[in-house]
Amino acid sequence: MSEPLKTLVVLGARGDMTGRLLLPALVRLAGSGGLPDDVHVLAVDRDPGDDDAYRAHARGKLDDHLPDRDDKAADALLERLSYRTADVTAADELHSALDGAATPMAVYLALPNVLFRPTLQALAGAGLPPHTTLVVEKPFGADLADAKALNELIAESFDERDVFRIDHFLAKQTVLDVLGLRFANRIFDPVWNSNHVKRVDITWYESLGLEGRASYYDRAGALRDMIQNHLLQMLALVAMDPPRSITERDLRDRKVEVLRAVTPPEPAEMAKATRRARYTAGTIAGTQLPAYADEDGVDPSRDTETYAEVTFRVSNWRWAGTPFRLRTGKAIGTERREIAVHFKSVPHEPFDDRDRPNVLRFQLSPDAISLQLNLNGEGDPFDLEQVCVDAVFPTQELPPYSLLLKEILEGDATLSIRGDEAEELWRIVEPVLSAWADNEVPLEEYRAGSAGPSGARVPEQAGADEKRGTAPGDDPNAG
Ligand code: BG6
Repeated sequence: MSEPLKTLVVLGARGDMTGRLLLPALVRLAGSGGLPDDVHVLAVDRDPGDDDAYRAHARGKLDDHLPDRDDKAADALLERLSYRTADVTAADELHSALDGAATPMAVYLALPNVLFRPTLQALAGAGLPPHTTLVVEKPFGADLADAKALNELIAESFDERDVFRIDHFLAKQTVLDVLGLRFANRIFDPVWNSNHVKRVDITWYESLGLEGRASYYDRAGALRDMIQNHLLQMLALVAMDPPRSITERDLRDRKVEVLRAVTPPEPAEMAKATRRARYTAGTIAGTQLPAYADEDGVDPSRDTETYAEVTFRVSNWRWAGTPFRLRTGKAIGTERREIAVHFKSVPHEPFDDRDRPNVLRFQLSPDAISLQLNLNGEGDPFDLEQVCVDAVFPTQELPPYSLLLKEILEGDATLSIRGDEAEELWRIVEPVLSAWADNEVPLEEYRAGSAGPSGARVPEQAGADEKRGTAPGDDPNAG
């Protein structure tokens, strides 16, 4: 991008996404000095209203979602915010809403994804100034065909270099630490392959339930909500080859290259290599949660999963033979958010016969990296002890959404998803989605507040040789 952005247009300014994430992120960015003084925010939604009414609405949202804010930063942001009424799917209304806005501008689609297509069509008809930046939230489409159609529509009005497809996990500190640890330390690369790594587990277990998001989540489910985007992004960073630089083209080329090698389970393996479940009523931290099927707005006949697990292969020289297990669940009693790289055992153990493989963990929220090692213990020096070398990080200075907004304002797309990458992500999960839609894999149940569906597997090889008998929270290989 040649010139710095002057206007950030938010379509869907009264929606959940803007209130919960964007406004707090803008205030945090302003508070850190990262929002240039001449950037104006133009909020657009269909409800009638003026600047003052919208500012009052925004203040209410900040009270709910950023109560401990820097008031000076919030006031400064609200002052440079204005509001226009428009149906974002009507080209003429969008044209008048954007008329007179300072350029260059970025248009942020903070909208439910069913509105992406009609809004992009309307934007094409509204006549945008050249080099307008487009920001699209996840999920990018509902399947591969939809993502392709969206990409085609986008290409009609935008230059790919000006398009930011958001995945906020790419702006999480520990996720980015994968790059630092792998590519700024010589000691890891020689062991970063299937000769030494037995398996990789990428786990996102959260205690949150549906949180009133049925209108979106009940059509998405855990596979589309988390694995198709966030967890596969983490896989890409763990599995990719070293890039020439951490810049938009080099990093994304490497990610796309490895994503192209990710192989979903074969049809005959689906029942072994994938798993889906949904939560029944239970208690988490003293709070009673209804069964997912009884939540407001949920259609139980959709069989939407709140737990998803898929073991992928990465079919290339570096990773052939190392399974990558991705799993995520809502309403899980013990939260766990991590990338765990499980190394193979030593070829010969001179101390005793015990198997003590090393595990390297990238833990998210709270952010930490830990390496499980075997050392000579206290007392008898011939007795080995397992120790964990930990690095715990302070809370990320700029939260993920603020960091992404900063990148957007600076025109740096390194942390956003490229068009071909978005399609690759759908290609990977689509066979699983269709096997599940055809009921080839049973929908299991787990109690809210439990460790997830019982009998979790520990894959030795993608889709094969699994051991049964432990729950996810009790995984013997977990710390
Ligand atoms: C979102 C998902 O993208 O990521 C949510 O839609 C999930 O279901 C969330 O809870 C987790 O990310 P974070 O950063 O909010 O913990």
